[in-house]
Amino acid sequence: MKNYRLSYAPILLLVLSAGTSPATAQVAPAADAGNKIPPALEYYKGREIAQTMHFAGAPWLTRESRDREEDCNKLLRELKLEQGQSVCDMGCGNGFYTLRIAKRVGPKGQVYAVDIQPEMLSLLNERAKADRIHNVKPILGTVVDPLLPPESCDVILCVDVYHEFSHPEQMLAAMRKALKPRGRLVLVEFRMEDPQVPIKIEHKMSKEQILKELPPNGFKLVQQFDGLPWQHVMWFEKDEPK
Ligand SMILES: C[S@@+](CC[C@H](N)C(=O)[O-])C[C@H]1O[C@@H](n2cnc3c(N)ncnc32)[C@H](O)[C@@H]1O
Repeated sequence: MKNYRLSYAPILLLVLSAGTSPATAQVAPAADAGNKIPPALEYYKGREIAQTMHFAGAPWLTRESRDREEDCNKLLRELKLEQGQSVCDMGCGNGFYTLRIAKRVGPKGQVYAVDIQPEMLSLLNERAKADRIHNVKPILGTVVDPLLPPESCDVILCVDVYHEFSHPEQMLAAMRKALKPRGRLVLVEFRMEDPQVPIKIEHKMSKEQILKELPPNGFKLVQQFDGLPWQHVMWFEKDEPK
């Protein structure tokens, strides 16, 4: 498995000065659904695939400054989630977005919270319990399959995640199957186009690169939003809804 190389300049300084080193920690092996998993890609369509963010860095995901830096509530408003929807928080980490989404879709809705690191799901579970949230279903996925039920999701949200997929084509095919016919896959990625965004380069993606990768895998771009401080948001639907 890959090492987590610290990708975010602010936490890098913090962690190195604290003398710990998630930069060299091993990511826990992914669950194996019984199928042989092909070797991880290092590059996809000319892009270097980022290392998986190790769970030791999880506090960075729930840092106090995140709302200010990334305007997370603005993103949530733009998603226009509705009560009763079924939403997947793909690569949920410790559940920063999962819990907020769970409140938005309400008790009649459901959030599938998928990650490949069981430690991330444990952290999410603790946070959900503390907030008394009961409509979250954690799923330990594999690097090739999020193990979602077919045609189960109105929305699959990938915040700062897609660029880490070691098997992008398998993940895209699996997410395509998990979407309802008019369901939407939302990619939220740090803007490669903007050198001011203080994130390591392989954890950023340009729109051009995203459009090299998604349409050949059966997705069409249907909407975009450029009003966040650091990220762009791109909505995709299946190119041929079944
Ligand atoms: C940078 S974190 C983002 C976490 C969360 N989306 C957030 O914004 O707070 C990326 C997460 O994606 C997960 N991840 C990487 N590859 C994955 C895959 N193939 N399937 C599911 N999760 C994955 C990592 O384990 C990590 O928790």
